[in-house]
Amino acid sequence: MKIAFAGDHAGYLLAEPVRKLLENRGIEFENLGTFGPESVDYPDFAHALAARVESGQADLGIAACGTGNGMAITLNKHRGIRAGLAWNREIAGLVKAHNNANVLVLSQRFTTEEENLACVQTWLDTEFEGGRHQRRIDKISL
Ligand code: RB5
Repeated sequence: MKIAFAGDHAGYLLAEPVRKLLENRGIEFENLGTFGPESVDYPDFAHALAARVESGQADLGIAACGTGNGMAITLNKHRGIRAGLAWNREIAGLVKAHNNANVLVLSQRFTTEEENLACVQTWLDTEFEGGRHQRRIDKISL
């Protein structure tokens, strides 16, 4: 299992704690940047992450920006991506259980690091429920 990470200047600080969490679970981690506080444009990193997941080079993705919204909006332009924004662990569980999100999107500015790591754990540990939720996912594509 390999998970790719992308963050802008308001999300990149989550890369290191997420890497540690994933590697402790035996999951390979790839950081697509950005790598410092210099201002960047989140779509550049969101599109790179989407390409990794859509091509199968990564099994799943994690993205982070200030609110999470810019990353989520951009990622969801891609047909093969279901990006779910989670500001707490309960929502992180639901974006897997109900939406089968293949990219988890985090907010570095509005969620603590501890809660963001709990979001990652919960998202990984939660099973997609299928059934009526699969029917709804099948109706998403235009
Ligand atoms: C950057 O200031 C901020 O706008 C960005 O990280 C994100 O929150 C956008 O949705």
